[in-house]
Parts: sequence; C-alpha cells; structure tokens
Amino acid sequence: MRKKLLLGNWKMNKTAEEAKEFALASKEMVAYAIAHNVDVGVAPTFIGLQTVVENAPEGLIVAAQNVHEADHGAYTGEVSIPMLKGIGIKWVILGHSERRGYFAETSEACNAKMKALIANEMTPVYCCGESLETFEKGQTKSFVEDQIRKGFEGIPASDAVKIVVAYEPIWAIGTGKSATKEIAEDTIGYIRSVLASLYGEEAEKIRILYGGSVKPGNIAEYMSEKDIDGALVGGASLALDSYRALIENLVG
Ligand code: PGA
Repeated sequence: MRKKLLLGNWKMNKTAEEAKEFALASKEMVAYAIAHNVDVGVAPTFIGLQTVVENAPEGLIVAAQNVHEADHGAYTGEVSIPMLKGIGIKWVILGHSERRGYFAETSEACNAKMKALIANEMTPVYCCGESLETFEKGQTKSFVEDQIRKGFEGIPASDAVKIVVAYEPIWAIGTGKSATKEIAEDTIGYIRSVLASLYGEEAEKIRILYGGSVKPGNIAEYMSEKDIDGALVGGASLALDSYRALIENLVG
C-alpha cells in the first residue's frame, strides 16, 4: 500500500519571512496529515529552505526545487547536495517543466542528479509531462515514456523505489485547466506500466503524483484513481487555508 503524498511547489514565491510564517502556522495541519497517514511537504525557494526546516513541525517534508549533482565547484548560481544536507533537506524536485522549458534541464541531467541524490540517501521527485501540442497530437504516452526511461536509466530497482514521480501535463500547470481524472489516471497508469517493464513488481512501490491546477475542489477526484498516489500542487499550496483544505480533501 503506497502512502499518499501532498507536496506544495512554491516555485519563485514567498520571501524567507513569508515562508517562516507558513511553517510556524502549519503545526496543526501537519499533525492532522500524520494522524491520517499522509505525507505532506512544501518546496520553498533556496532562500526559504532553512527557515522552514527550523520553524516547521517535525514531519513536514521540506524539498528543494533543484540541485546540482557535483558536491562543489565552479558552477555559478548552483546549490549542491552537501549544502542542502547541511541544513537538513532530504527531498528535491527535479525536472519540473518550468526548469525543462526555461532552463533547458534534460532528462539525462535529471538522471545524474537522481543518482547523486540517492547516493546521499535523499528523495528525488522526478517530474514529467507533455506540452499541449504533444497532447493534441496524441503523443503523450511515447513522450512521457521517453522522459521516464531516460530519467531512470541505470538506476536499479532497489533505488528506483525511493523515487517519487510527478506527472504534470504542461497544459494543465497554472492554467486552471486541470486534466480530467481519467486522463491523469490513463497516463499515470501507463507510467506505472513503463516502470513495471523496468522493475517488475517493484514498480508497484513507486509513488506517482498528479500535478497541474490541483485545487481543494478537485483533489479528491484524483485520489479516487488507483494509480494516483497524491498531488504536486503549485498555486493552491501557497495559502495556509487552501493547503489545509487540500489535505482535508485528500484524506477524504
Ligand atoms: P499549479 O502548478 O498547481 O499551480 O498548476 C503545479 C506545478 O507546477 O507543480
């Protein structure tokens, strides 16, 4: 039985002070989530990570939105795994479509980062998803399959089960146009079958999230689908009230 997961992707939002405020106010809802056997977390900017770790209740997952695979070196503007570990970060989102689209991050680059994270006992959240054009051409499955195969290249089953996958159709991100639960389940079920072709029954242990305009009002629909194990939420994860409602409606 896969444990449900709600992860808030704050993107480039919230100052350190605002992130701290959220962390301080999250005690009750984190306790509620834990009591209902749900993992919950947020992914602040690099600037907000430390204050959230220091001020959040125990049990709130705190994820970075990117990382560099090298421990240190001449990589202007980057942050390394030891730097994240040094402030208590154990989770990292990789390959979000905004990073792929605006910053040319590839599945191969994510693969190197995933291997480095796993070697450091950290949890990657590997994002995949197609553009509207790809969706309209009916090429979603082959596109996402390619991202999954390249992302998991050379990763053995014993490590693959530690990775969380997030399927986020780009046309549904921040647009208010969420994928129907049937579309989400169809693609996520397919992703699980690709993982099964790589890892056999172990693929059943890998958590796969849906993301793209998830709101308190629609999260429960996705949770009713058998292959969807939670949600990666942008806009609706920023305000405490909305985040709390997401947890409540995910729990059902
Ligand atoms: P959204 O973003 O919930 O605002 O659509 C989701 C994401 O990009 O992770």
